[in-house]
Amino acid sequence: MRLSIYPPITNASGPNSVTREELERLAQSASGAVVTKSMTHCPRAGNPEPRLRERLPNNIGSLNSMGLPNLGYHQYAQIISHLKERYRKPLIASIASAPCPHRLDPIEQYREIATALEESGADALELNLSCPNLEEVPIAMDPQSVRHVLKAVTREVKIPVGVKLPPYNNTPKLFEEIARILLEFEIAYVATINSEPLTLDIDVKTRTKVIRPNDGFGGLGGPAVLPIALAEVHRFYRFFQKHRARIAVWGVGGIVTAEDAIKHFLAGASVIQIGTLYLWEGPAAFARLWAGVQEWLHANGYNSVEELVGTVKDL
Ligand code: DHB
Repeated sequence: MRLSIYPPITNASGPNSVTREELERLAQSASGAVVTKSMTHCPRAGNPEPRLRERLPNNIGSLNSMGLPNLGYHQYAQIISHLKERYRKPLIASIASAPCPHRLDPIEQYREIATALEESGADALELNLSCPNLEEVPIAMDPQSVRHVLKAVTREVKIPVGVKLPPYNNTPKLFEEIARILLEFEIAYVATINSEPLTLDIDVKTRTKVIRPNDGFGGLGGPAVLPIALAEVHRFYRFFQKHRARIAVWGVGGIVTAEDAIKHFLAGASVIQIGTLYLWEGPAAFARLWAGVQEWLHANGYNSVEELVGTVKDL
């Protein structure tokens, strides 16, 4: 199913997309859609603080181990119904699973949340299969589990379903296995990448780690991950093209300037998302980036982003 996002720039799930107020601010911004923080079956307080270092030295990015703090899916169903009445832009519900007192297995959690959010008026679902900060291995690293979740959710809902994936880095076999599984289902888009997992920073003044949870290890976002994101976008784009699959690639990772956005489009992204940049700059980032992208298109003889998507040349 197609999902049309204009301008083709949205927030990435996570940063400042947890509360009703934060989601309302996104709805009022120039973002092409509103993507919620990944919601779980039960509300979660998340990991102990400090759990986010917004800005690493030399502006290379941000580091977090939030632990999926969120209001629980019942609240997001209500918030989405409310936003749906007031704003016209697409509302995308990001869904994750996490251990919960109800002891539902992860597949049941995805299925139940997906059904409820479709009913609430969400325009699309983004299945986060790649949260780096829980104790469990992310679902995206286990092909059979990916298949089970996608089967359970796509069977149940009619609205477009996207999938948020981690960087597969130097695991080409796993990449290929996951990409092939995506072809088995009607998937609207793949959003890549989630934060680079298992990263660490140290404050030399205090000689401590910069965040507390998970022994200081967390997910890295921002400029440092741009080349990783471009590579993942490009290999998914090429894979889908080779298999004539109508799955869009949404580029996430390291976008700060309009040139970064253009690189994502050239690599194969048809929509881009901003995470760390949204933390740093707030809603003003959407209009600034979009103006810069349009200026670049005009200066280089393009009429639209679509003309650019996936057209990077080999050297
Ligand atoms: C969390 C962090 C992420 O980078 C992510 O993709 C999903 C969840 C978190 O810890 O809340």
